[in-house]
Amino acid sequence: MSKSDAAWAALSKAADAARDRRIDSLFAQQPDRLSRLGLTAAGLELDLSKQPWSLADLDVMLELARTSDVEAARTRLFAGAVVNASEGRPALHMALRAQTGADFRADGQPVSADVDATRAAMAEFAEAVRAGAKTGATGKPFRAIVHIGIGGSDLGPRLIWEALKPLDPQIDLRFVANVDPAELAQALVGLDPAETMIVTVSKTFTTLETLTNAEAARGWLRASLGAASDSHLVAVSAAPDKAQAFGVPADQVFGFWDWVGGRYSIWSSVGLSCAVALGYDVFARMLAGARAMDDHFLTAPLKANAPVLLALAHMFNRNGLGRSIRAVVPYAQRLRLFAPFLQQLEMESNGKRVTATGHPVAHATATSVFGDAGTNGQHAFFQLLHQGTDIVPVDILAVREGSEGDPAAQTKLLANAIAQAEALMVGRTEADVRAELTAAGKTPAEIDALAPQRTFPGNRPTSFILLDHLDPERMGALVALYEHKTFVEGVLWGINSFDQWGVELGKTLATRVLGELEGGPAGAHDPSTAALIARLRV
Ligand code: F6P
Repeated sequence: MSKSDAAWAALSKAADAARDRRIDSLFAQQPDRLSRLGLTAAGLELDLSKQPWSLADLDVMLELARTSDVEAARTRLFAGAVVNASEGRPALHMALRAQTGADFRADGQPVSADVDATRAAMAEFAEAVRAGAKTGATGKPFRAIVHIGIGGSDLGPRLIWEALKPLDPQIDLRFVANVDPAELAQALVGLDPAETMIVTVSKTFTTLETLTNAEAARGWLRASLGAASDSHLVAVSAAPDKAQAFGVPADQVFGFWDWVGGRYSIWSSVGLSCAVALGYDVFARMLAGARAMDDHFLTAPLKANAPVLLALAHMFNRNGLGRSIRAVVPYAQRLRLFAPFLQQLEMESNGKRVTATGHPVAHATATSVFGDAGTNGQHAFFQLLHQGTDIVPVDILAVREGSEGDPAAQTKLLANAIAQAEALMVGRTEADVRAELTAAGKTPAEIDALAPQRTFPGNRPTSFILLDHLDPERMGALVALYEHKTFVEGVLWGINSFDQWGVELGKTLATRVLGELEGGPAGAHDPSTAALIARLRV
């Protein structure tokens, strides 16, 4: 048996033992459990002690990481090696948040000078817009930005804006992703074209949704301000010539590079709208927070490495215990978009069934991720988390000090975060419930019917991530933590986390169906699809 096969077999064996064991029983058996499974990295505190693994299981998982050469893979990633083999590209998002004057190389080519120059241009542009030096076609300053983009060109900026925006922002930043015209229509309501900038973000500048919305927004500007309004158009793209051909003035096209994956791109000029609306200094602080997580990931030993341990905890559930779904619940309204962000980061990166060399994977890959802000989620899907037939591990995020509002309400929020993690692990025994029902005077028949319904099995794992404040640094660190966690998982599964071939077929078929809906000749389809096309032809 190879070392790797042995490590995977050890995981199965460890998980078999964990299946019937109580998580809470491990604390008494392992007095150093909390200290071994708790760590602080780049301002984030992680507690992985409410996970089903014992400390011996942790060692099994660390051995799996070692035999999968995760350290060598990490070195290759930071060195700018071609880790995205199917597209022949490095994945060097760490270069985007490096110190000015760094020396990152993408497949041997120096990139840091270009990164520094682009950041300087972003800072200058952001300052000019905020100071009113850069004005619209009529001379009015810009008071609104409509950010148009989808997937990685949307989810990161939307998350960051929601997390960090001031209560009364100088710039009204709105987002449009969906090709559903309702989203653009709603985003434009109440905006004055003379004071509105349209920032179109698309790595490829070919994405159907984004180009459709960008054309409509350009039309909205031109209808009121004429062709001069093209000066309100800004673009962010790795295909700058296409953006210019669209009508964006050359000096308002901000570039990035093919070694930046869409879902890893918030640190590039994809974050321009945020940099303008938040101020470049805030954006720079976010980069610094992510850089601190990069430094930690690169230098901390595996057993004290936050992205590595989070990945291993998730994999113990996924690969050891067969848990295919994970919930993500930030107890912070400002982080309510974290689950949708992670859906792309984790599911587009690691939702793969073949390895980077084209062979079927030997192990289950990405979990499905869903979630919403706490406490809202408690009144929606937590019933299933506590008493459903499947065990769904939960990532709970909490922020000690709220960004605004009543501190007493913040304390209530934190109490719920802590209590839910406790309830999920500890549960409530049937004996306890029976005693309560007996004391309440219920009949034996009533108790028999009610007690099982009111019993909580517990033993449901959580990872708890605590931030002191939701500031730009910690926000950057949090996103980078999950980026690296996703990378580590991809390495252990032997997949390429940086391509996304699975999104292509739907795009191709949509183009074909569109032609038919618009009156083109009918193509060959299954009967169900043909009937839908016939029903919806315009
Ligand atoms: O969903 C597929 C995808 O290619 C994502 O990977 C990407 O983030 C998104 O589309 C948008 O692509 P673009 O930035 O090129 O418009």
